[in-house]
Amino acid sequence: MTPEFGRLLYLLAATRKARQIVEFGTSFGISTIHLAAALRDNGGGKLITTEYEASKAERARKNLDAAGLLDLVEIRVGNALETLRTGIDDPIDLVLLDGPKDLYLPLLRLLESRLAPGALIAADNAKDIEGPMAGYLAYVREPRNGYLSVHLPVDHGNELSLRLTRG
Ligand SMILES: C[S@@+](CC[C@H](N)C(=O)[O-])C[C@H]1O[C@@H](n2cnc3c(N)ncnc32)[C@H](O)[C@@H]1O
Repeated sequence: MTPEFGRLLYLLAATRKARQIVEFGTSFGISTIHLAAALRDNGGGKLITTEYEASKAERARKNLDAAGLLDLVEIRVGNALETLRTGIDDPIDLVLLDGPKDLYLPLLRLLESRLAPGALIAADNAKDIEGPMAGYLAYVREPRNGYLSVHLPVDHGNELSLRLTRG
């Protein structure tokens, strides 16, 4: 993740005045730190992030602790399709999708009913309109699905989508 993308994540969460954020793909917690820093400056909230590899999740926990942000973050270890299925009570203001691309569309559909109107969804590595991203990009770019979506040439290419309706 580039510093520029980190600043973009902070900017999105701050502008949205996000209180509830969901992240797919914690790794060592660098993006998580940027998002949680915005939550702190927004006055608090909760970030649910999920990571498949327990050793990475542990590194992320230590990094978040060192950054003084661990109290805002819940790290769920396991497959996101399972860990994000339940236990998200408040409407979601912002989603970061940053893992295997073939999971982006199933995860968006899984979270969709819990998105707040005006929620933002940032999908990393969204440069290629063919391959594993094709289904996701086609979905968020189809106005009938209730999103307004734009490609941003930041980091590895990002698709930023705005949830227009509750679906
Ligand atoms: C690109 S990295 C995330 C980088 C992180 N967001 C950052 O910018 O600091 C993608 C992560 O997704 C994790 N991952 C892969 N498949 C997953 C799954 N099914 N559920 C949860 N995490 C998964 C990988 O282990 C990897 O750490």
